[in-house]
Amino acid sequence: MKIITVDLPQNPYEIRIGSGLLSEVGKKLKGLDFKGQAVIVTNPVVSDYYGEALRDSLIKEDFRPVFLVVPDGEDRKSLEQAGQLFSQMNELQAERLTPVLSLGGGVIGDLAGFVAATYMRGVPLVHVPTTLLAQVDSSIGGKVAINHGQFKNIIGAFYQPRLVVSDTSLFRTLPPEEIRNGLAEVIKYGIISDSGLFSLIESHIDPIIPLDENLGEEIVFRCASIKARIIEKDEHDQGLRNILNYGHTVGHGVETVSGYAVSHGQAVAIGMIAAALISHHLGFLPGSELERIKSIIQKVGLPVKIPGPDIQSLIQALQHDKKKVGGNLRLVLPEKIGKVFIQEGVSRSLLEQVLEELA
Ligand SMILES: NC(=O)c1ccc[n+]([C@@H]2O[C@H](COP(=O)([O-])OP(=O)(O)OC[C@H]3O[C@@H](n4cnc5c(N)ncnc54)[C@H](O)[C@@H]3O)[C@@H](O)[C@H]2O)c1
Ligand SMILES: [Zn+2]
Repeated sequence: MKIITVDLPQNPYEIRIGSGLLSEVGKKLKGLDFKGQAVIVTNPVVSDYYGEALRDSLIKEDFRPVFLVVPDGEDRKSLEQAGQLFSQMNELQAERLTPVLSLGGGVIGDLAGFVAATYMRGVPLVHVPTTLLAQVDSSIGGKVAINHGQFKNIIGAFYQPRLVVSDTSLFRTLPPEEIRNGLAEVIKYGIISDSGLFSLIESHIDPIIPLDENLGEEIVFRCASIKARIIEKDEHDQGLRNILNYGHTVGHGVETVSGYAVSHGQAVAIGMIAAALISHHLGFLPGSELERIKSIIQKVGLPVKIPGPDIQSLIQALQHDKKKVGGNLRLVLPEKIGKVFIQEGVSRSLLEQVLEELA
């Protein structure tokens, strides 16, 4: 078992990582001085697998768990769904100190987090992330949000959880596709700041799916530590936190243009390769490092080429990207595995050239 303390001046909290930790959630919650009702937001898939274990753990510590089960899927990060949860919280007569627990992946975490951040101007939030992506990324850092209109994560807040419990035995039931999605972010952490993590994945590539519990614990710990250290320095996303967007600018474009047929992890994989290629063409990233990045992505089963012929709509989508500055793009580029920097003003022509290479 491993513990990371996220050392924020107003809201310090622990991330607990290890196999079997679901059974300790009740005890830890009690340790934070909560009592009485506990509201669990989850979905039917996760609830079927793990609802009972969480319920038992809470009842054992005299909590009254109430499960609010939301249908599975990204489209549930909506105002309408949040509204339903608010109504249910009203009916339950939830109080200022009633903790809201998210039991699920990033969708449930973002939705439950949004509800916790806004209901009564904020009730305590605890994340119990159940996907690799949620354990290494979305449960840490306090970004909570819902989607609106055509925009993802457009309504939200910075709202830190009081506790994160990451049980790495939950990967047992996670579909390989979801492991791969998470691995895209794991590879990202390796490239932005931990060459040792990158090598760890390289050396375990064949047996990596399904993800073994010990390897899972090591990976989650290393990624969560990186994100925690970044959040501590830049809680509200005003600078350093940008480096977490490595692969995400082109990635978001690919995701959007595909109408979300390309998953987030797949899109980020392509985005990471695009940024690495740009860096290589600008003379920063050596060819050998570029090859390692391509090769690891390919070996975990993520795409290295942009699916579909429509590079022009992708370029248009990128021109609308919010990170665009004065017609040129601002990108996070790797200089070597383990180190990135922010490059202002990447020209449209270089971007086009690289996207054509990846088509
Ligand atoms: N807040 C942040 O900082 C942040 C960061 C990254 C991503 N996100 C958000 O996270 C979301 C994506 O999260 P995700 O990739 O976890 O997807 P998800 O929450 O949709 O989960 C993926 C699928 O796995 C299933 N599942 C979850 N845990 C399982 C388990 N242990 N066993 C079997 N099946 C399980 C879910 O039911 C779902 O079908 C997006 O909405 C994205 O915007 C937020
Ligand atoms: Zn991401």
